[in-house]
Amino acid sequence: MCGIIGYIGKKNPIEFLIDGLKKLEYRGYDSSGIAIKDENSVQLIKSTGRIKNLENKINNTKVLDGNIGIAHTRWATHGMPTVANAHPHKVSKVTLVHNGIIENAEELKAKLMEEGQIFKSDTDTEVACAVINKYYTGNPISAITKATNILRGSYAFGIIFDDQDKLYAVRKDSPLIVGIGNYENYIASDIAAIINYTNKYMLLNDNEVIELSNDNIKIYKDNKEIKKEVSTANISAEEADKGDYKHFMLKEIMEEPLVLARTLNKYINDMSKIYDISGYKEIHIVACGSAMYAGLIGKNLIEEKANIKCFVECASEYRYEKVVYDRKTLVILVSQSGETADTIAAMRKAKENDIDTLAIVNVKTSTIAREADNVIFIEAGPEIAVATTKAYLLQVAILSLIALRAAYKKGLEQKYTEILTEAKELPVKLQKVLNDHDKFLKIAQDIYKNHDVFYIGRGVDYAMCLEGSLKLKEVSYTHSDAYQAGELKHGTISLIEKDTPVFAIISDDKIKNKTESNVIEVASRGAKVFTITNDINIKDHYFKYVVPKIDYYFQPILIVPPLQLVGYYVGDLKGLDIDKPRNLAKSVTVE
Ligand code: G6P
Repeated sequence: MCGIIGYIGKKNPIEFLIDGLKKLEYRGYDSSGIAIKDENSVQLIKSTGRIKNLENKINNTKVLDGNIGIAHTRWATHGMPTVANAHPHKVSKVTLVHNGIIENAEELKAKLMEEGQIFKSDTDTEVACAVINKYYTGNPISAITKATNILRGSYAFGIIFDDQDKLYAVRKDSPLIVGIGNYENYIASDIAAIINYTNKYMLLNDNEVIELSNDNIKIYKDNKEIKKEVSTANISAEEADKGDYKHFMLKEIMEEPLVLARTLNKYINDMSKIYDISGYKEIHIVACGSAMYAGLIGKNLIEEKANIKCFVECASEYRYEKVVYDRKTLVILVSQSGETADTIAAMRKAKENDIDTLAIVNVKTSTIAREADNVIFIEAGPEIAVATTKAYLLQVAILSLIALRAAYKKGLEQKYTEILTEAKELPVKLQKVLNDHDKFLKIAQDIYKNHDVFYIGRGVDYAMCLEGSLKLKEVSYTHSDAYQAGELKHGTISLIEKDTPVFAIISDDKIKNKTESNVIEVASRGAKVFTITNDINIKDHYFKYVVPKIDYYFQPILIVPPLQLVGYYVGDLKGLDIDKPRNLAKSVTVE
């Protein structure tokens, strides 16, 4: 949820840290701060608001000429986004930045206060800092290890000590990688933050304590030194850059044909890489946000085509509810980041029950990618805008391939080869849709002053409505609702008045005429109906956009992008901070 970056080397780290924080701003952006250490002291500079506020403050401050630094961009959990609560926190000789939540912070704080510790903030982070300080008698590894035995919850810490010329880090259930540079080394929540400097990195397991100097990296587990493999990241610096686009969200939508081609080529040419679900009696797709909505498309395809019962659950519910696993079940976790706390917990629950797990993930270094029994990677590259677009689309593509392979394996799909051949045309067809971006801008110009927008559809079309509606809400702060088209008249239709925008998604041949009747119901009550369909014969009530037709398995991939663009343009017309919508974070690593 928060972003962490750290540096040790020969230079003053300010430029590196600010650059890294900007790349991590998608993880949280209500306040930020840095700590710089020289031989004698540690200096803290913190600010509320966006990174640029911190940058201004740094520019107006005499900054220490040190070569060790840690920095943090915050998404507040414990305590308001104030300067006092912003990271880094310092207790005596220990300064740290933290991503995660310390669950026993209150209890520990009470004990430490009895022992005379004074706290300056409302954060759980300052408590963690005080715990490490309590055990620090000159040996950082031992102090950090002792603290990890006491702290409960999730954490990634970057730590510096006043009297040590090294940088330290440890993580548990929160992401943190070590980057390896040339006479400098780094820590970061995400490889994208350091990819301009290195593509060599190490992954850390829970509670391994890292000690970095500019030319050495040591890793300790339970106070004993261990060895680690070095990995190479295959993302390019340009992929993590906005280029000439006004926003990352627009860039990422426009990249969809490219990443789709990359992902489809990888799997269509070798479908054995698509996990075979045909032997399971029941599938649970568990995820959060858009990933869950991608799962709902998957459910429709898996049930319809592969004839396997499939449930979709949001991970925050699934992890706590009683789940009866009484048939041969597969749990599919869908997560762009692979770090969503509830999705991780759902995966662990399934594993504890000896249930097979399959993850559909973008970030290869993530916890879910490492812990799931089977993983299918989407090849989205870095996704920086908080609201997901290209990663969602690839999640849908993978679920389509899973349904197709299972249907084929069960002898339910005779046109398997033709469908795969047709799928190869998807990127070109999608490019054609995106080339019509002006049409979606016009829709946005028509509706951006409206307070309520509705999306209606049935079956798989309804699943697309949910994502279209979510996109609009997230980036344009417009209230919107997605409804099963047949359900609208059981209450919500009372909200339809003259000129209320209603998006109707009509792609599924089986139920087209049913949704059309529902469209007539809203149109006759004055709604402006924007129909997105794959059928030129569907009646146009106000505006109609026809996407190219493609097999049922892949149709959503051509229909959702126009909805993403409408959401984007509405947000842009309202002058909003589209890539970093208020209150949201890209990777929700807390419950
Ligand atoms: C956050 C993001 C959403 C995303 C969801 C799940 O809420 O803002 O865009 O869909 O988390 O994230 P994941 O990384 O697990 O796909």
